[in-house]
Amino acid sequence: MSEYETHEYDVIVIGAGGAGLRAAIEAARSGAKTAIICKSLLGKAHTVMAEGGAAAALGNADDRDGWKVHFKDTMKGGKYLNNWRMAQIHAQESADRIRELEQWGAVFDRTPAGLINQRNFGGHTYPRLAHVADSTGLEIIRTLQEKGIHSGIDIFMEYTVSHLLQDDDGTCTGCVAYNRVDGAMHAYSAKSTILATGGITRCWSVCSGSWEYTGDGHALALNAGAELIDMEFVQFHPTGMVWPPSVRGILVTEGVRGEGGVLRNSEGKRFMFDNVPEMFKGDHAETEEEATEWVRQVVAGEKASVRRPPELLTRDVVAKAINKEVAEGRGSTHGGAYLDIANQRSAEEIIAKLPSMHHQFRELAGVDITKEPMEVGPTAHYVMGGVRVNAESQESTVSGLYAAGEVSSGLHGANRLGGNSLSDLIVFGKRAGEFAAKRSAEMSQPDLDLKQVESAIEDNLRPLKRESGENPGRVYDELRDMMQAKVGIIRTEAELKSALKDLDTFRERIQNTSSGNSMVYNSGWHQALDLQNMADISTACTLAALTRTESRGGHTRDDFPVPDKGMWSHTTNVIWKDGAEVKIRQEELDQPPEELEQLLDRSKKEASK
Ligand code: FUM
Repeated sequence: MSEYETHEYDVIVIGAGGAGLRAAIEAARSGAKTAIICKSLLGKAHTVMAEGGAAAALGNADDRDGWKVHFKDTMKGGKYLNNWRMAQIHAQESADRIRELEQWGAVFDRTPAGLINQRNFGGHTYPRLAHVADSTGLEIIRTLQEKGIHSGIDIFMEYTVSHLLQDDDGTCTGCVAYNRVDGAMHAYSAKSTILATGGITRCWSVCSGSWEYTGDGHALALNAGAELIDMEFVQFHPTGMVWPPSVRGILVTEGVRGEGGVLRNSEGKRFMFDNVPEMFKGDHAETEEEATEWVRQVVAGEKASVRRPPELLTRDVVAKAINKEVAEGRGSTHGGAYLDIANQRSAEEIIAKLPSMHHQFRELAGVDITKEPMEVGPTAHYVMGGVRVNAESQESTVSGLYAAGEVSSGLHGANRLGGNSLSDLIVFGKRAGEFAAKRSAEMSQPDLDLKQVESAIEDNLRPLKRESGENPGRVYDELRDMMQAKVGIIRTEAELKSALKDLDTFRERIQNTSSGNSMVYNSGWHQALDLQNMADISTACTLAALTRTESRGGHTRDDFPVPDKGMWSHTTNVIWKDGAEVKIRQEELDQPPEELEQLLDRSKKEASK
């Protein structure tokens, strides 16, 4: 029999990014005995990669803004595949959540009148992103962390949750985790469990995410019988660093474009003017003069009376436009586009508004962004798909299992607007914590099923027992390269089918990796276990991408280049696991009630563009 330590909690939160911390704070303040289990050190989360701000219709920089416009923008940006109720809740509650953060000590940038300042971002009609220069995610994590550690939450840092525990009815009753530092095993009984594990973008070799982002929560949910939706929709943020190779993929905040930055190709042309899709025509400037006037008005603190520059189109559109310039031979020296802020704003303004970008390019690329353009290109940044949840409570299709933040799905539809992630985390993190605590208050502590715990521990120890085998690091690199090549920004049926075959082979290779037998900080062992999640989640994305025979938002098919006006304009892909097999079916999306439909002001023509 293996040795392990046991623990009992009302609410366990897996993950300590913005959603996890906010959920744990809410659960603890509702009176639940709460723990956070996190893979990394507290404070180190992908949340910090949402640099430019948190979207909330405070109306501080432009009083024409309000929740209804935010709702409309979110649905339009998501190409109307969003869960309308989540979009409504998010638009209605994000302003309160931002003000709450301010009360808890977040130091937002200010308007001249002393209000929380807001900047422009792609797809948002008005300046809507509450920000702290270009380090907003970091400030939000710092604030929540400080609040959290004074809320009586127990924290298990550098632990990876490997299995969820379930009773005979499938209800989630806790989890099993291992301590990454010493390899010790832990079993947790929990009345409610919240997944807040973030995303999956380490499955691609060019990404903005750090090593933790291996789709653990998505895989835990899938393996527990929960449904995932929208897995074909992966966001390639248009602006990651492209040079030098060691930093390829690191995020260049959309805040650069929000502050007036422009994109040019190798011929010096502002190519975004040629890339405005029909559904966004009328929202964006058609000439450089108009775009320049918009920047002048914004810098002067005036309410913009002209249309936004096309660099502020939604991310899916901008990423594909850069991709096209490179493919057609008009890319920058190292295969991206030029992003220029130096000719739009003074050096003082750039350093005040974008200090991290200034530092990042100077230190990592030897580029002074107050004088020279940056080279940028698409980087896998976010997955819109994830665990299917109840819009009000965030409970998944498995009872007692909740999901919040990037691991959940529905709010963003086919494409997320920049800045809607940070507000998603705090709006739905709070709700998940509240509802999980409420549920826990009504139930008794589940018994640990010792057989399940033993079997989970055996799974975890298996890679350590192999005498020989392939290095997991090699399998990891090759899987990521394969996903980048075959399930990237532009997809084809042939490549997706080939990717599915490759993933079968990867699964076999993963069962035969060897990482030595030490349990003490053995990152090879950890990687061997993470790889199982990466293979399952990559399969879910690929299968969904193969099935959706159209192009929409974050999913582009070269062989089906336009949005489908029929079934796919109102249908979602649902993924689940049947034994070891990942399966897929389609479901009709619930449509908004009439009073919200009117706000959307979409014609049938627009909906399918
Ligand atoms: O570009 C950015 O600052 C990223 C923001 C986000 O993903 O929401």
